[in-house]
Amino acid sequence: MRKVRLGDTDVEASVLCLGTDSIGSRIDQAASFELLDLYTEKGGSFIDTANFYSSWFPGCKGGESETTIGRWMKQRGNRSEMAIASKLGFDYPRCDGGLSAAEIQRECEKSLKRLQSDVIDLYYAHRDDYDSPLEETMEAFDRLVKAGKIRAIGASNLKVWRIAEANTISQVNGWAQYCAVSQRYTYLRPRHGADFGPQICINDDLRDYCRSHGVTLVAYSVLLQGAYTRGDRPVPAQFAGPDADARLAALEAVADETGATFNQVVIAWMLQSDPPVLPIIAGSRPEQLTENIAALDMTLTDDQIDRLDTAGNPDIKQVWLR
Ligand SMILES: NC(=O)c1ccc[n+]([C@@H]2O[C@H](COP(=O)([O-])OP(=O)(O)OC[C@H]3O[C@@H](n4cnc5c(N)ncnc54)[C@H](OP(=O)(O)O)[C@@H]3O)[C@@H](O)[C@H]2O)c1
Repeated sequence: MRKVRLGDTDVEASVLCLGTDSIGSRIDQAASFELLDLYTEKGGSFIDTANFYSSWFPGCKGGESETTIGRWMKQRGNRSEMAIASKLGFDYPRCDGGLSAAEIQRECEKSLKRLQSDVIDLYYAHRDDYDSPLEETMEAFDRLVKAGKIRAIGASNLKVWRIAEANTISQVNGWAQYCAVSQRYTYLRPRHGADFGPQICINDDLRDYCRSHGVTLVAYSVLLQGAYTRGDRPVPAQFAGPDADARLAALEAVADETGATFNQVVIAWMLQSDPPVLPIIAGSRPEQLTENIAALDMTLTDDQIDRLDTAGNPDIKQVWLR
């Protein structure tokens, strides 16, 4: 699997990232190891976890995903081949959340212990914290970088202006800057005013910022829980409508032409977009992961990308030109 550098750092990660919020909780350890093995056999090396995964799952209190990944890396002896991304910011049992200096220091140590590792390759702020000054947060992240406990930092679910402000503060002070941003993103476009709680979607502003500043974009919830192909998973209400219908029709046409599945076209489209967006893929069954990873075998033509990009909202440009 092709690898890219995250931002201007020396952290190398495979272009498909593996999502693990169900690893070690909804998916038991044996099945989790099987999925992790499959992903790495296909050349994957970029694993997305977080301190509080999966505290919302019955019987869990957070840390299950990191703990399972730590055990797996120990058993396989492959820590040095992986790029591990973890996050902090949300509360879970025995953690108040937020991005204060004390919280960053404390949660990083807990994650390192669960991962049985000396270092986290990419450490994300998982949400914003308006109660902690940006200077405090960025200096605390930088201290961890200088101490060798993390290699790079990222932002997830932050507004573009906050990412830009944080990075400017870091630039002025010579501190580590956010080199990657992970937000919600798929081929269907959210309806105006769609509510995703604390989650923030990739938008044109962010794409522009990342393109011009060399920041790597990473997408989560790429396959809408399987809604592109599964009768048991309707298109979520935040997306459903005429724009989604038009984009699903474009997706169907390209899937027919290429012989690929809808999921594979979505993943390929994302990777070939400008700037490229690295999809986090997930699945609870090996067949799902195999299908998703096989998206790397296809290349969309410029014409197919153009048709996918322009599907939906048919009259918008004409209205502005009138
Ligand atoms: N930074 C953040 O705030 C944030 C937020 C959300 C997620 N994430 C990360 O992103 C990862 C993925 O998130 P997500 O679960 O929302 O992603 P998603 O792509 O929307 O959904 C993944 C689920 O879709 C189904 N699926 C996947 N491939 C399929 C296929 N080929 N055919 C049919 N069904 C398929 C599976 O559901 P079943 O297992 O039910 O069959 C799978 O668990 C998480 O594990 C986490 O690492 C980050």
